[in-house]
Amino acid sequence: MKVTVVGAGAVGASCAEYIAIKNFASEVVLLDIKEGYAEGKAMDLMQTASLNGFDTKITGSTSDYSKTANSDICVITSGIPRKPGMTREELIGINAGIVKSVSSDLIKHSPDTIIIVVSNPMDTMTYLVHKTTDLPKNRIIGMGGALDSARFKYRLAEALGAPISDVDGMVIGGHSDKGMVPLTRLATRNSVPVTEFISDERLDQVREDTKVGGATLTKLLGTSAWYAPGAAVSGLVQAIACDQKKIFPCSTMLEGEYGLNDLCIGVPVVLGRNGIEKIVEIELNDAEAAHMKESAEGVSKTNGLLEL
Ligand code: LAC
Repeated sequence: MKVTVVGAGAVGASCAEYIAIKNFASEVVLLDIKEGYAEGKAMDLMQTASLNGFDTKITGSTSDYSKTANSDICVITSGIPRKPGMTREELIGINAGIVKSVSSDLIKHSPDTIIIVVSNPMDTMTYLVHKTTDLPKNRIIGMGGALDSARFKYRLAEALGAPISDVDGMVIGGHSDKGMVPLTRLATRNSVPVTEFISDERLDQVREDTKVGGATLTKLLGTSAWYAPGAAVSGLVQAIACDQKKIFPCSTMLEGEYGLNDLCIGVPVVLGRNGIEKIVEIELNDAEAAHMKESAEGVSKTNGLLEL
């Protein structure tokens, strides 16, 4: 199993690190445009192999896509991250050009690959890959919901005073401060609905804290986060590589599901060796459906800014 990660910045490197530590891939190629940077990160990571006990071979390359040839999975993290006070949508101008050329270079060398898009604004960048490549829709996956759900579970555990391993929950919708739809109604603490333990007001707070999860970190760090994004990507990569058939909310092209068409937005999907193997349609209540519709309108508006 060969995995390429484009962009050796904080998210890309952390993603490569988590993939290596989980020890399921034979090879990870890190690629970056900055001379020597990916090579340096790869070497540093390889020097953790004996300490962390993994056999995954990590190599780096400065813009040489031939090194990525025949990758089973390619992750695109390239582009600029947001600075404090910026929305993900404001990154579209620079990142669209980057994501378009990176995806085309990747596919030239790995025509059978599955692409995972991480660059922001993620739902729109995923849509761009659909519109500018010939890859079938099951092989284009946007990473947002897995990260947002991890942040949701963190906030739920905090509100419950419970360990995170006892908590389950999912965030669907767009990967944006306003667009996320945390499904508190379906969240559980060891199979018991969280609504049994947390007041409506506290749950509203959990929802709000989840939606600004990325912005909160950007303010604290001065740039966007990397550990949880990297770990979330590695979870998707592992589900595909190991054909796990796990459900994650991912951004995928909708063709009528959830009453939506011609946009990529986060919904639950089954991930296996063929990428997105199934879109899972869950029944939303009126408030959730309204929130999802509003979220889709936001994503479509950002898609409208693309020069296709
Ligand atoms: C975040 C970025 C990866 O939410 O969108 O941290």
